[in-house]
Amino acid sequence: MLTEDDIKNALKTVKYPGYSRDVVSFGLVKQINVKDGVVSVVMALTSANPEAARQLKSEAERALRPLAGVTSVYVEVNQPAAAPAAAGANPWSQQAKVPGISRIVAVASGKGGVGKSTVSVNLACSLQHLGLKVGLLDCDIYGPSIPLMMGVHQKPTISEEEKMVPPSNHGVKLMSMGLLLEGDQPVIWRGPMIVKTIQQFFSAVEWGSLDYLLVDLPPGTGDAQLTLCQTVPLDGGVIVTTPQEASLGVVRKGIAMFQKVNVPILGIVENMSFFTTPSGERVEIFGHGGGRTEAPRQTVSFLGEVPLFTEIREAGDRGVPVVVSAPETPAAEAFLKIAKSLVEKFG
Ligand SMILES: Nc1ncnc2c1ncn2[C@@H]1O[C@H](COP(=O)(O)OP(=O)(O)OP(=O)(O)O)[C@@H](O)[C@H]1O
Ligand SMILES: [Mg+2]
Repeated sequence: MLTEDDIKNALKTVKYPGYSRDVVSFGLVKQINVKDGVVSVVMALTSANPEAARQLKSEAERALRPLAGVTSVYVEVNQPAAAPAAAGANPWSQQAKVPGISRIVAVASGKGGVGKSTVSVNLACSLQHLGLKVGLLDCDIYGPSIPLMMGVHQKPTISEEEKMVPPSNHGVKLMSMGLLLEGDQPVIWRGPMIVKTIQQFFSAVEWGSLDYLLVDLPPGTGDAQLTLCQTVPLDGGVIVTTPQEASLGVVRKGIAMFQKVNVPILGIVENMSFFTTPSGERVEIFGHGGGRTEAPRQTVSFLGEVPLFTEIREAGDRGVPVVVSAPETPAAEAFLKIAKSLVEKFG
């Protein structure tokens, strides 16, 4: 008796064109039917490349036909509509542009705890303040911090089209794993589920029309980063560092990550740059200027520095980012300035 597992095992010998990984582990096989020796397989490609689809179809058929008990094989490879010609040169052409979202910008760092989420929420609110329509996507699946920092706790509602409608606060639409979990349960998923969740953050969320979608990434270069870059075309990446870490490879790691996946680097933000005491004295707790000196060395722009400021943390904990709670402070002004340079980068 021919089983679905026999088919799956045979498909594990079929590699995605140009990759060493097989189509099953890539998650491309969506449906397998076996009945009286008739095998039908449905695969879904995120790439619009017709050549990849043709190749996959013929290789899958070649792998399945010789199996004992198989009388006929039907392989269907579904693809999104072909991308415009200009996108053809992009090796990550399996990405699909999200309708309605003009620009997607990721905030990342090679290191944890440098203030990526703080920068993300404050940049999102600053862009909103500049009159733009903004969304904020928290791709930190294991440690989502955006709902707390943005003061959003309600779950997304479901639209008539059965899509999730992101809640919003401070004029910014928001989606995060933290909004989908019950209570404080920890996420103990493995890679493939993270991949799926991040894909759904785009395909199953009704973002509506946005000028900017900012994406807060977890530290490092794991599944979340790669999935994001493969799922949607990113218009740019912002790298966050602290002064003392800038030259220690954190910036270089962030740059390398974006370069590997062809994402333009918009620039470096140096967070926790300096501290001003109540008497006005400036203290450079972590040294100062690492980001500014490292940027030209890496031939990327320096977007600006954000001071270490108690109100930034307190505001984050209260769910009201500092650019909203205390817009006149130097910290808030620093974020606004960075947001303006970002917008200028896009002309
Ligand atoms: N400029 C700043 N002044 C004061 N506190 C700050 C500043 N930037 C960040 N913080 C605080 O530092 C902590 C870590 O910041 P945040 O969560 O934004 O970092 P992260 O890089 O996103 O961390 P993770 O890698 O865990 O995602 C938070 O409590 C935040 O409020
Ligand atoms: Mg974070």
